[in-house]
Amino acid sequence: MEIDLTAGRTRLSLVPGPETEVYAYNGSVPGPTLELLEGDRVVVRFRNDLPEATTVHWHGLHVPADADGSPMHPVAPGDVYEYRFEVPAGTAGTYWYHPHPHHRTAWQVGMGLYGAIIVRAHDDPLPDSLPERLLILSDNRFTDDGAIDFPDPDSEQGRTDAMNGREGDVLFVNDDIMPEFSIRSGEVQRWRVINASGARIYRLALADHTFVHVGSDGGLFEHPVEVDEIILANGERAELLVRGTTRPGSRAVLQTLPYDRYMPKTRPADWEVPRDLLTLAYSDERPVDSEPIPDVLRSVTALDTAAVTDTRVMLMSQGRINSKVMDMERIDVSAELGATEIWEVENLVGMDHPFHLHGFRFQVLDRNGVPEPYRSWKDTVNVPKRERVRFIVRYNDFPGLWMFHCHILDHEDQGMMGVLEVGQPHTGIHH
Ligand code: C2O
Ligand code: CU
Ligand code: CU
Repeated sequence: MEIDLTAGRTRLSLVPGPETEVYAYNGSVPGPTLELLEGDRVVVRFRNDLPEATTVHWHGLHVPADADGSPMHPVAPGDVYEYRFEVPAGTAGTYWYHPHPHHRTAWQVGMGLYGAIIVRAHDDPLPDSLPERLLILSDNRFTDDGAIDFPDPDSEQGRTDAMNGREGDVLFVNDDIMPEFSIRSGEVQRWRVINASGARIYRLALADHTFVHVGSDGGLFEHPVEVDEIILANGERAELLVRGTTRPGSRAVLQTLPYDRYMPKTRPADWEVPRDLLTLAYSDERPVDSEPIPDVLRSVTALDTAAVTDTRVMLMSQGRINSKVMDMERIDVSAELGATEIWEVENLVGMDHPFHLHGFRFQVLDRNGVPEPYRSWKDTVNVPKRERVRFIVRYNDFPGLWMFHCHILDHEDQGMMGVLEVGQPHTGIHH
């Protein structure tokens, strides 16, 4: 599978009124959705037509270190870079791509660089007759002349953005504001949801409906779980089934409900106001019979806690991990290829910090000592205020340097990031 991807500057009509100068992948915001199949060998021929360095990071995909688009591999303006990787079996799921240059990620994503990746399985347990919808959630802020609003860092708004991460008052689903999704009474739809926002955490609820939560970052769970709402932190994904349980002609609004991720002093004034994301509009047609939802989706084999050789403690404070800011020359964690380890991530402060590890998917073991009710493959996990999450990970492949960081992009840019070196057993990687 060969993909040509170019990041460049262009003007688009994102909001009513004047056009907006954006950064875009292949001229669109969000960028093109990449549809891959397990087993695909992928070559992305990337060209940087931006006036600054960038990278493309394949968030959640298991790729070699030099294809990860980390800050270690910047692509200069005018340059081309070939990202080559294979999509392993068992990784079907919803992923996304975005730039990851040192100190410039919040800016470049805010300018419009993000897109979805769907990896399909050869043997998906959900019927392919289910209509599928993709929801790339993002938010942005604009000035009256249509420009993307990045405040002066020394202004009050600039300081609030640095603390909270920059949130926007305009909420997008894909390239739309408050789109209408259609459904027929009785129909079951499969939704893939990506939180591509730099800082906003979503608490999703659909009036008069429950969700059947079937998967997260790394694909499907073992069994479906029925829930009223889903919290989706920055970088996380969810796979849901939405059942058309109400009558023909009815309408329901998908909202993000208030979620207090903030410190009191920078909490936005309107944080308690639910925000509308889209309208689910039922057709007038008579109800159809609902597709049965399988009870067993796939197996998610538990990583072996008996194999654990080390526990890594990550203490997150505002803008820092283990009291340090990111240094590209420093290795924060050295591990051996093939090792299984536990990471214990603790948030010491009164603001949520979603923790993301590159390269290797993990399984959450417990949150504040409470065992995780079911297994799933994750690459990003929210660590709420003063809480503690433990996960298990196996460095099954790919030696090299890997990032871990808070996925509030402003925090990441401030240096709330560290480097994991995975080396060949006993030899390490030589620099
Ligand atoms: Cu989605 Cu290191 O990032
Ligand atoms: Cu990532
Ligand atoms: Cu953070």
